[in-house]
Amino acid sequence: MPERAAAEVQGAEDSRARMMEDVRAGLCGSGQKELPPTYFYDERGSRLFDEITRLPEYYATRAEHALLEARAEEIIQLTGARALAELGAGTATKSRTLLRALTARGPAQYLPLDVDGETLAATAAALREEFPALDVIPVVADMRDDVAVPRTRHPLLYAFLGSTIGNFEPNAARGLLRRIRATLRPTDRLLLGVDLIKDASVLHAAYNDARGVTADFNLNVLRVLNRELGADFELDQFVHRAFYDADLSRIEMHLVSQRDQRVCVPSVGDVHIARGESIRTEISAKFDHHSTAAMLETAGFRMTEWMTSPEALVALAIAEPIA
Ligand code: SAH
Ligand code: AVI
Repeated sequence: MPERAAAEVQGAEDSRARMMEDVRAGLCGSGQKELPPTYFYDERGSRLFDEITRLPEYYATRAEHALLEARAEEIIQLTGARALAELGAGTATKSRTLLRALTARGPAQYLPLDVDGETLAATAAALREEFPALDVIPVVADMRDDVAVPRTRHPLLYAFLGSTIGNFEPNAARGLLRRIRATLRPTDRLLLGVDLIKDASVLHAAYNDARGVTADFNLNVLRVLNRELGADFELDQFVHRAFYDADLSRIEMHLVSQRDQRVCVPSVGDVHIARGESIRTEISAKFDHHSTAAMLETAGFRMTEWMTSPEALVALAIAEPIA
C-alpha cells in the first residue's frame, strides 16, 4: 500500500479507537453520561452547524463576523502576522476577513486545522480559488491531541474563533491553550474568540431555536456513532435539551432518553439509559474580560487587546506568549 494511503488507514483506525474509548468512558459509567462535542462534526454535522450560524437566534457568528470585519486590518497590523493558523476552522467563513487583510500586505500562509477532513478539503479548495496568492496548508487533526501546524512564515497569528474554547471543560481548555502556547515563537500571537455572559433568555433562545436545527445538530452525534461504530441508537427515542447554568456561566446541551433503553455499541458493550436520563453532549462556556484574561494567564499568555462587539455579545482577545 502506498505510504500516504497506509497513513490514512492508520489515522482512521486511531480515530475509531479514540471514539470507542470516549464512548466507553462517557456512557458506560454510573455518573452523568457524556459524549465529546467533537463527534457532532461529520459532513452533515458541519452543514447543520453552518445552518445554525445563520439562524436569527444564534447571534454569536454574526456578531464575531461583524467584529472581525471592523477590526481585521488592525489585528493584522498589531500582530504583524504573515501567516494565519486556525483551530477548528470549519468553512472559514469569518476567517476571510483576516485573510483579506493578511494577503493585502504581501505573501501569506493559511493553516486551517479541523477534525472534519471533508469540510476542510472543500474550504481549502475554495480559498485557493478566492486567494490565488495565498499558500493554504490544511491540517486534519483532533485538537484534543494535536494543535501543531507546519512551520510557516512568521510571525504567526494562531486563531481560535467562534468560542469553540467554551466547548471544553476549564481544565481541558487550559491544557489546550498551553499546548498552543508550546507551539508558538515569541513574536507569534493568539487570537481568541469568546462568547460573552449575557441575559439567560438570549442564550436559551440561541440553543433552542424555533426551527429545531440545534436539536437536529445535537442528535447528529448519535447518527455518527451508529455509522462509525455500528451502534443502534434510535434517534426518535431522544429529545434535545439545552439550558443555561448561571452559576457555571455555561450552556449545557443534553439528549434526554424517552424510555428505559439498552443500546448496543459493538466492541464497547451495551449501554443502559433510563427514562429521563440524559447524555450531556456539549458545554458552551460564556466569558467576561476577567475570566478570559485569567484563563489565558494560567495557560502562559498575557492578554494585550480586548475587543468587544456592539451590545457586548462576543469578544476577541489578542494574547502574547509569556516568556
Ligand atoms: N471556527 C468556525 C467553526 C466553529 S464550529 C466558527 O467560528 O464558526 C467548531 C469547529 O471545530 C468545526 O469545524 C469542527 O469540525 C471543529 N472541531 C470540533 N471538535 C474538534 C476537534 N476535536 N479537533 C479539531 N476540530 C474540531
Ligand atoms: C462551535 N461551538 C462554539 C458552538 C457553541 O455555540 O458552543 C456549537 C453549537 N452548539 C449548539 N449551537 C452551536
